[in-house]
Amino acid sequence: MRLTLSVIKADVGSIGGHTKPSSRMMATVDREVGKAIANGLLIDGFVCHTGDDIAIIMTHTWGEGDVEVHQFAWKTFLAATSIAKTSGLYGAGQDLLVDAPSGNVRGAGPAVAELSFDHSLSSPRPAESFMVFAADKCGPGAYNLPLYLAFADPMYCAGLMLPPMIKGFRFHVIDMDHTAGDSVIELDAPADSYHIAALLRDNERFGIDRIVSRTHNEVVAAVSAQRLHSIAGKYTGKDDPVAIVRNQGIFPAPEEIVSPFAKAHFVGGDARGSHVMPLMPVPLNTAVTGMYCLPIVSCTGFSIDKDGRFSESFTDFFDNPAWDEVRRLAQRKAIEMRSQGWSGAAMLPYSELEYGGFRDTVSSLLERFQVREERRPEAAE
Ligand code: 13P
Ligand code: 13P
Ligand code: MG
Ligand code: MG
Ligand code: MG
Ligand code: MG
Repeated sequence: MRLTLSVIKADVGSIGGHTKPSSRMMATVDREVGKAIANGLLIDGFVCHTGDDIAIIMTHTWGEGDVEVHQFAWKTFLAATSIAKTSGLYGAGQDLLVDAPSGNVRGAGPAVAELSFDHSLSSPRPAESFMVFAADKCGPGAYNLPLYLAFADPMYCAGLMLPPMIKGFRFHVIDMDHTAGDSVIELDAPADSYHIAALLRDNERFGIDRIVSRTHNEVVAAVSAQRLHSIAGKYTGKDDPVAIVRNQGIFPAPEEIVSPFAKAHFVGGDARGSHVMPLMPVPLNTAVTGMYCLPIVSCTGFSIDKDGRFSESFTDFFDNPAWDEVRRLAQRKAIEMRSQGWSGAAMLPYSELEYGGFRDTVSSLLERFQVREERRPEAAE
């Protein structure tokens, strides 16, 4: 069967400020997913949250960008929004940026990552397992560095030296500034790895869209690389990307995929979506409650049976004492960075400040600037 994995995530309201969705919102999304499985739209589904963003992880056979699947997710987020409104929660419906998308919801606010493959549990995939990354308070290129290291650097993924991976992976890199349709370049690692790095270093403009095995021509990773402010014309929240990454066998093992997250690398996001702060790996269903408003990422793992159903349980990759050490590192890096407050590298450049109000403040001051007559070059002549 041709199986599609779809992950659609949105921030549609949160309790006590921008911390987490309410239990009633989560229960509603769970119930809707249950109905969609019962009526045959979905084969399986799983609901979790990262900070105040609700992710729906789905398997089905309708392909990527399917209108029914996307409309289902949209309507489900609307149902959660109406609970958020009734309960007076913060940011109800925040990521639903258009009134009613007629087709698929890509470009309408929610983060979407999807990939499809022939699912027969035979060579080269006698078992199918994958993981889902979901981030909150964080910019669109948050996965650029970790995925580059996992798929293009044997210092992080020794598996790249094995026969199924030694030819490397093809990176589809998207220019997120391009708003009239997706503008993508395909570059092969390792041959083009410096070119890939030259693009991916700019987390706010270029993002990994997907990664494909050069040996097996199988898609291994898909990322929701889109900028909300390119969609809405103004920022309404950070982009908070999701990613699907298949693992094991012809692909890197889970530990090779998660190890780059041990860096707690600096990304755009954090408080008011306008700072540069470390990405903290957290267990599923973690609320954003620490000081600052650290960018966070969760990682869930699943196996899929022959019918496309998830294993009876899931793996919560960052729910392990090993990651406590990284969380402490992230917190230490955060304290260091925020000790310089608003100065220079601690905050995002002017064009990337999420809260347009910061720009309004500066604009109103720019109007009051005056050239000093005695300092005019002409005046000196
Ligand atoms: P297991 O022996 O648990 O299968 O682990 C093998 C392995 O290759 C880990 O990367
Ligand atoms: P959310 O995208 O989770 O709403 O966070 C935005 C923000 O401004 C954090 O300060
Ligand atoms: Mg929010
Ligand atoms: Mg959020
Ligand atoms: Mg957001
Ligand atoms: Mg084992």
